[in-house]
Order: sequence, then structure tokens, then C-alpha cells
Amino acid sequence: MKIGIIGTGAIGGTIAKKMAAAGHNVKVTNSGDTDKLKALAGELGVVAATIKDVIEDVDVIILSVPTVAIPTLPKDLLANVPENVIVVDTSNYYPFRDADIEEIKNRKVESVWVSEQLGRPVIKAFNNLLAETLANGGKEPGAKDRIAMAVAGDDLKAKKIIEGLINDAGFDAVDSGNLSESWRHQPGTPAYCTELTAEELKQALSNAVKEEAPLLRDKAIADLSSLPSYPSHQDIVEYNRGLFQKNPKSV
Ligand SMILES: NC(=O)c1ccc[n+]([C@@H]2O[C@H](COP(=O)([O-])OP(=O)(O)OC[C@H]3O[C@@H](n4cnc5c(N)ncnc54)[C@H](OP(=O)(O)O)[C@@H]3O)[C@@H](O)[C@H]2O)c1
Repeated sequence: MKIGIIGTGAIGGTIAKKMAAAGHNVKVTNSGDTDKLKALAGELGVVAATIKDVIEDVDVIILSVPTVAIPTLPKDLLANVPENVIVVDTSNYYPFRDADIEEIKNRKVESVWVSEQLGRPVIKAFNNLLAETLANGGKEPGAKDRIAMAVAGDDLKAKKIIEGLINDAGFDAVDSGNLSESWRHQPGTPAYCTELTAEELKQALSNAVKEEAPLLRDKAIADLSSLPSYPSHQDIVEYNRGLFQKNPKSV
């Protein structure tokens, strides 16, 4: 497939590398200097593009920037992108990083807000695993304990296509419902960054409690940042699993 990725950070850059390795045709952009972008794209095995070009002649656009950056994207960025092009949102809202976004703070589902900012439907995916998991936790289809990723959206056909890309990245995909249900894998839920198998993830999505999620999200940031040294990846995953009484891996 032809894939354009906006954002080349921990998530966007890793997705780019994995999609190129799986044989997809990938171009990327970020907010930085063109020469640095070209060098990074070379390392990732993809093509550097401008923000204008990255969305041209592609099947899928993956938006992988901090939530706060979304309204700073060029106005009408996607206005001329054909309807059948799938737009994927990987974002997670963190007030300490993304400042106050009143609608999200008032419980608007994060990717519903993103969809409104962009003025078109989005699929939420690649948001409920840590970048380290995405980079190094993939396995072959059918492998024991293969980690699963949640995919939400209102277009079943688009979700199936994104599920294929998730499989190419080394993960099982679990359909988490319509975009309005995607709060079930936002920060502060049992599905979030806990490295579950598909069956466990289905259970975790069902166990999520909407009102608790922002409180647990903020507690996790406070707890993890109060540690004397930065926790290891495995410690973060274990912490996240322990945050919920009903996490399938903690019961
Ligand atoms: N890190 C994780 O473990 C993780 C896991 C799941 C989901 N997520 C979510 O996925 C999103 C990306 O996360 P990340 O960790 O990859 O972030 P990151 O490492 O900070 O990278 C963000 C990328 O967005 C680019 N960017 C920012 N504003 C832009 C703009 N206006 N136009 C074009 N590019 C822009 C940055 O460009 P420059 O490179 O030029 O600065 C950078 O490449 C966030 O919403 C995050 O919450 C993160």
C-alpha cells in the first residue's frame, strides 16, 4: 500500500520503518528541517516528503503527532484528499504535555475530537502500545502470546485494511468498536500499554471505566515521574497492569 505518515517520532518513525520492511511504499514528514528529515527517512528506509506531498497519492495517511499539534497543522490539509483514503490517528491526550483542550477534558472522546479538527473520519490505531512494544514486541501471525492492538472506527472496510497493517507490524488486531468507543483504549484504561493478547484485550476493553480513565492516567504520570530513576519498559508495563483491579494480566 502507499502510506503517508505525518510525524516521525517514537511511534510514527517506528510505524514507517515497519511498514517499509513489510514492503509498503512509505513517505514521511515532520515539523523539522528538510535535510534532517531526509537523513532520518534514509535510516528508516522510506522517502522524505513535505506536508503537502505526504498526503498526495496515498491509500493511508497516518497522523502521529502530539494531540496539541493537531490544530497547528495547515488548515484544510485534507480537504482534497479523496474520501477513500484512510486517515489513522495514533494520538493520546496528556494534559501535562498537550495543555488544556477543554473539550477532551470535558470527556469528549480523544479521536472524535481529532476527527472534528481534521473534518473527516479517522481510524484510531497504534495508540495502545508503548513505542518500545511497537518496535520490539512484534511476532509472526499465530505465535504464542502475540500482543494485540485495538482498532476503532466507523468504517468496517477501513478498519480491516488497518488491521492488515497491524498484522504486518507483528501484532494481532482487535476491533474495539466505533470511534465513539475508542475511549476504551485511551490512557488510564486496562487496555492501555499493558501488552495483552487478543482475548485479554477484548476483556480489558470491556472492563474499561470511562470516568476513571483520566484520573488513572494522571495518577500513572505522577507515580512514574516520582520514581528516583526512569523505570524500565517492563516496569512501566507491570505498573500499568497493576493500575487496574480488572486488568486481565493482573487477576
Ligand atoms: N511514545 C509512545 O509510546 C506512544 C504510544 C502510543 C501512542 N503515542 C501517541 O502517538 C503520538 C506521537 O507520539 P510519539 O511518541 O511518536 O511523539 P514524538 O516522539 O514526540 O514525535 C512527534 C512527531 O510529530 C511531529 N510533529 C509535531 N508537530 C508537527 C506538525 N505540526 N507537523 C508535522 N509534524 C509534526 C514531530 O516533528 P519533529 O520530529 O520535527 O519534532 C515528531 O516527528 C502522540 O499523540 C502520542 O501520545 C505515543
